[in-house]
Amino acid sequence: MASMAAISVEALSKSFGSQQVLREVTFSVPKGETYCIIGGSGQGKSVLLKHVMRLLLPDSGTVRVNGEAIESLSVEDLARVRKKMGMVFQESALFDSMTCLENVAFGLMMHRRDLSKGKILEMAREKLRLVGLPRTVEEKFPSQISGGMKKRVGIARAIALSPEILLYDEPTTGLDPVLSASIDELIGQMKAELGVTSLVITHDMSSAFRIADRILYLYGGEIRVSGTPAEIRESKDPLLQQFIRGETRGPIPVIPDEKA
Ligand SMILES: Nc1ncnc2c1ncn2[C@@H]1O[C@H](COP(=O)(O)OP(=O)(O)O)[C@@H](O)[C@H]1O
Ligand SMILES: [Mg+2]
Repeated sequence: MASMAAISVEALSKSFGSQQVLREVTFSVPKGETYCIIGGSGQGKSVLLKHVMRLLLPDSGTVRVNGEAIESLSVEDLARVRKKMGMVFQESALFDSMTCLENVAFGLMMHRRDLSKGKILEMAREKLRLVGLPRTVEEKFPSQISGGMKKRVGIARAIALSPEILLYDEPTTGLDPVLSASIDELIGQMKAELGVTSLVITHDMSSAFRIADRILYLYGGEIRVSGTPAEIRESKDPLLQQFIRGETRGPIPVIPDEKA
């Protein structure tokens, strides 16, 4: 039922110049579920996610968060809705000049002026522990830790304000299979322990099969196939099958995590 959805995307279209990137994309994510968007490079996955945060505005169509259409919100209302959402960016996007602890505390400092600095730092430490990082990471700068650890700090920062909705853009890209599996576990943990609704962009099929309640295959700016992981595995769509085979053929090259 549409009114129950945490995120509802309705006939969303977007072009850049003469290039149409999204064509009437429609789907909704029920509260507490994890949906994965899969698809090849340049198919519009990141553009779609940016619309959900209203970092981009659609040419036509609507995005609703808990039933509210976000295109028409006032600045104040948008800030209120955005506070319910956390985003984990493709390149972790941490502030290089801040320690990991300060990175996680940043959003709390901005939005929770009612809390003391001591309380905020305590909450930030708790989030770093929740994502399984050792205490020694707190005072390190992003440049001093591995890619896998940066992703975890990015997730800790995204959950700092206890969002109801988490958006992830390729959280496991560039990670080795063991680290990927631990990020997947973390996404599952957010759902099980915090009841979070997640929308996860990935081109890692094993990750999608592990974490998704439902998988949407984006191709040519449209949702070409959508279904449960079992339905996606059994789909007869030739392009989808080719995509799955291509993405699960091992060994997949990984960026060495030499600073781990
Ligand atoms: N701000 C922008 N201006 C112009 N073109 C863009 C912009 N953002 C994305 N694109 C184009 O839209 C297409 C889809 O991009 P993207 O959503 O990043 O793909 P992906 O599925 O790999 O995440 C690409 O061709 C990209 O070059
Ligand atoms: Mg992308």
